[in-house]
Amino acid sequence: MNRLHTTAALAALTLAIVAAPLVASGTGRTARVPATARAPAMVPAEIIRTRQAGFKEMGTAFKNAMDALRASEPQIIMIQQSARTIKNDSVALRGWFPAGSGPAPGLKTAAKPEIWTKPVEFRAAQDQLGRAADAFQAATAGGNVDAIRAAARGLGGACKNCHDQFRVPEQR
Ligand code: HEC
Repeated sequence: MNRLHTTAALAALTLAIVAAPLVASGTGRTARVPATARAPAMVPAEIIRTRQAGFKEMGTAFKNAMDALRASEPQIIMIQQSARTIKNDSVALRGWFPAGSGPAPGLKTAAKPEIWTKPVEFRAAQDQLGRAADAFQAATAGGNVDAIRAAARGLGGACKNCHDQFRVPEQR
């Protein structure tokens, strides 16, 4: 999936989530929903595909940053770009797990049911990513390579913390 497509799909998912309560809170009369909010509801398979595309984008950005950091003189501008993508995805991620997008027959997802049965813990894992993504972005803005490397370790820890609890391990 190319970047543009991913971004558009993520925007559609966000829109679907934002629009849903608007429609649901209609009073029986024809709800007056702005045309822009009338996004078609996404079926679970689409939500999952969009979510996985978002994670792929974040995974690629993270890998690019780690690869860049291995150089003796890292290209800070490249790492800053990755940091921005990771930051944006860490915010969008909060909308990637609507109820009904968990594991079910016929759906291919590595999301564990605990995401929906342990919302407090899941939110804590999202918060940890949010803080780590902010710290990483701040470090890249500062430009000190040692500080960026340290913040990258914190970021990797936030990915792992959530995956360990809420993602089915990859089959190898
Ligand atoms: C709050 C929880 C959480 C955090 C934080 C998190 N992930 Fe994930 N990640 C998941 C879940 C759940 C899945 C499985 C999604 C699915 O299959 O529906 C996943 C899947 C992935 C995938 C596989 C996507 C695919 O299907 O091809 C990659 C790559 C990935 N994450 C990278 C990262 C990286 C890199 C970070 C940190 C920068 C991160 N994740 C942080 C929960 C998280």
